[in-house]
Amino acid sequence: MRGWARRGALTVCAAWLAGTLVSGQAPALKQLVPNGMLIGAALGQRQWDGTDAAAAAIVPVQFSSVSPENALKWGPVHPEAARYNFEPADRYVAYAEAHGLAAIGHVLVWHQQTPAWVFAGEGGGRASREVLLARMREHIQAVVGRYRGRIRGWDVVNEAVDEDGSLRKTPWLEIIGEDYIAKAFEFARAADPKAELYYNDYNLWKPAKLAGALRIVRGLKNGGMRIDAVGEQGHWLIGEPSAAEIDATIAGIAAAGLKTVITELDVDVLPRDEGMYGADLSQQRAYQASTNVYPDGLPQEQQERLARRYADIFRVFLKHRGHVSRVTLWGVTDLYSWLNNFPVRGRVNYPLLWDRQGRPKPAFQAVVEVLKGVR
Ligand code: G3I
Repeated sequence: MRGWARRGALTVCAAWLAGTLVSGQAPALKQLVPNGMLIGAALGQRQWDGTDAAAAAIVPVQFSSVSPENALKWGPVHPEAARYNFEPADRYVAYAEAHGLAAIGHVLVWHQQTPAWVFAGEGGGRASREVLLARMREHIQAVVGRYRGRIRGWDVVNEAVDEDGSLRKTPWLEIIGEDYIAKAFEFARAADPKAELYYNDYNLWKPAKLAGALRIVRGLKNGGMRIDAVGEQGHWLIGEPSAAEIDATIAGIAAAGLKTVITELDVDVLPRDEGMYGADLSQQRAYQASTNVYPDGLPQEQQERLARRYADIFRVFLKHRGHVSRVTLWGVTDLYSWLNNFPVRGRVNYPLLWDRQGRPKPAFQAVVEVLKGVR
């Protein structure tokens, strides 16, 4: 069978499976979440072009929103000063529209996946404040402006706060100064006045970090700017943070007058070690060998543990219905999760609701039961 025909057949098969689940005992997540809460998944090219047949079948059935895992980051979309590459992002937005999914924009201003030219001065050295602000404005106008009215909301600034709550020492901060965040929101608001705008970060369950994020929010509001929600990424471990800590995070954001969006949810079941972060290749191999503990499949008791963890997490989201306006999983099936390569490359991880073959896991059933109020 030719590649495209085989892909088509696989898509039909997976669609049948997902359809069966929907018509049978397991309704779609998007039908079960409370009114006013979107449920989403992050996609890459193989998901929106159908190469990942399992995801192609699952996404339109189960989800009401999508986020681009990489396509709208500065590096992929604007690799050179005078060159944009909108093709993947155009396809992403077209896919969302074709399936009636709310498209999210991720991300405008970040210190990662941003090409070196952005921070470079024209005559060598670093760019001046004026030059970097002009580049930021031009980029945001071009990217947000292109999808004006088509992208529901944007992660405007990502990961600007350090673990102690201070502003992270990024080139954005060092070159422009503290107002780079307000400027990014100002440019985004001008480019699409109706789009929702978010500040997005991880580990906001840590009180110092949440306090830092809320300082940013207050600064924006005091400056007369509108921010619609705080994004807690939700890259969580099997045992941390606790449900109570997640609960307190959402409550803290609500007390500041904002909605929470859970923007990048997944649950890492593999062991972590401080030394893994930034480990060089030889260390990575050693860590991989000693911590790739489920290379042949997740044992049943671990599946159940993951299911209980997802149930606990979604119970907290439900408790805060009205304050949590979206929950987005960072991927669809375990096969393509970034956690197979982080914090060390080449491990077999199990962080999502569908397994490597696209079959719903006990964690999926657990989320369904919580949303139905029977668990
Ligand atoms: O596109 C290139 C390809 O041309 C090249 O051959 C290949 C070789 O490694 O790399 C490809 O780029 C990779 C890219 O994903 C697209 O697949 C990068 O190496 C890889 O580092 C990059 O990883 C992404 C990561 O952000 C980068 O920081 C992950 O897919 C993506 O899931 C992850 O997402 C971030 C959120 O944006 C922000 N919050 C944290 C989250 C997880 O790190």
